[in-house]
Amino acid sequence: MENERLLKVMQRLEEELITVYRKFHQLPELSNEEFQTTKTLRELLTAVGIRILDLPLATGLVAEIAGDTKGPVVAIRCDIDALPVQEETGLPYQSLNQGKMHACGHDFHMTVILGAAYLLRQRERALAGTVKIIFQPAEETGHGAEAIMQTGVLSDVQAIFGLHSQPHLPVGTIGTCTGPLTAAVDRFELDIIGVGTHAAEPDKGIDPIVVAAHVVTALQTIVSRNINAFDQGLVSVTHIKSGNTWNVIPQSAFLEGTVRTLKAETRKLIPAKIKQISEGIAASFGARAELRWYPGPPATNNTAKWAKLAAQVGEETGYEVREEIPWLGGEDFAYYQEKMPGAFINVGTGQSYAHHHPKFSIDEAAILHSARYFSRLAEQVLLALEKDI
Ligand code: NI
Repeated sequence: MENERLLKVMQRLEEELITVYRKFHQLPELSNEEFQTTKTLRELLTAVGIRILDLPLATGLVAEIAGDTKGPVVAIRCDIDALPVQEETGLPYQSLNQGKMHACGHDFHMTVILGAAYLLRQRERALAGTVKIIFQPAEETGHGAEAIMQTGVLSDVQAIFGLHSQPHLPVGTIGTCTGPLTAAVDRFELDIIGVGTHAAEPDKGIDPIVVAAHVVTALQTIVSRNINAFDQGLVSVTHIKSGNTWNVIPQSAFLEGTVRTLKAETRKLIPAKIKQISEGIAASFGARAELRWYPGPPATNNTAKWAKLAAQVGEETGYEVREEIPWLGGEDFAYYQEKMPGAFINVGTGQSYAHHHPKFSIDEAAILHSARYFSRLAEQVLLALEKDI
């Protein structure tokens, strides 16, 4: 009887969460514009009596579920923003916002964490401490985590957990690892300044296109010749622009690219090498190179203890748990992990096109299971922290 009742309750919760998920999916909003999304979240949370903290955030919010207020504090975080992608899934609940789409599964993340919040709310009195639930804005632009941290709301948090949907993992599977799960993502721009001239008289100028070609080729040696073979790194020139016609040697060339690393020392080494190589090569041709460096989020860094507990809770809740290898994409969850221990977890959402693709989708069957997992994880982390105190 009890089992049947529980099953019914869970079925109802699943239906409710799927409805919410479709609503989020239909109304995607870009980074820092998540006003409607925040309003919907606010309404859903307050409807079940979950307290929303009063913070100076334009979008996004932090809710709190507190059992033993003298106990430890844990945070679970999801992101809520969408991407400037025109959806092509053809789903009946396809995006209604022209040119915007939840193409990274953040609608799934919000729904899962909302479901976890519902479940934690039901067990609020039994909780060994406090759970702070972060609905973070602006993950895609890499500034949302900082906005949340600047409010000071996480100063008492002892461990933080986050998730990402993963089309490479089947539904019913989660994956995590100790150490980095995602990379530090940096961007660079490089100007090669030569001397423009008539295409018939290259000897009168300094051709920045020839210099740029040498630079692009030489930059590829950074990973192969300067980084330990057991470490990882990536240097890609992804954008070149120079000249605008066939009979003029231009004055300059513009190069842009990205660098991905997992270790802090590698992250420091690469820009120094890019500068040395580009300036050195340019000088050898009589040209000049100017590097501009735009740091993005660092690599995520899962604490061994919490990655292990996350895997253990996964097994207890019926997940197949995989040891993940790092991915060189970025995730601004890393900013939290610079300040506090925690773990980032990949959640299998079933075969689909890649993240950010106009046909990206998730399998709704992953929602309820993940919500139950994150509520249990928060509870278990509180118990583990309580034992440590
Ligand atoms: Ni994402």
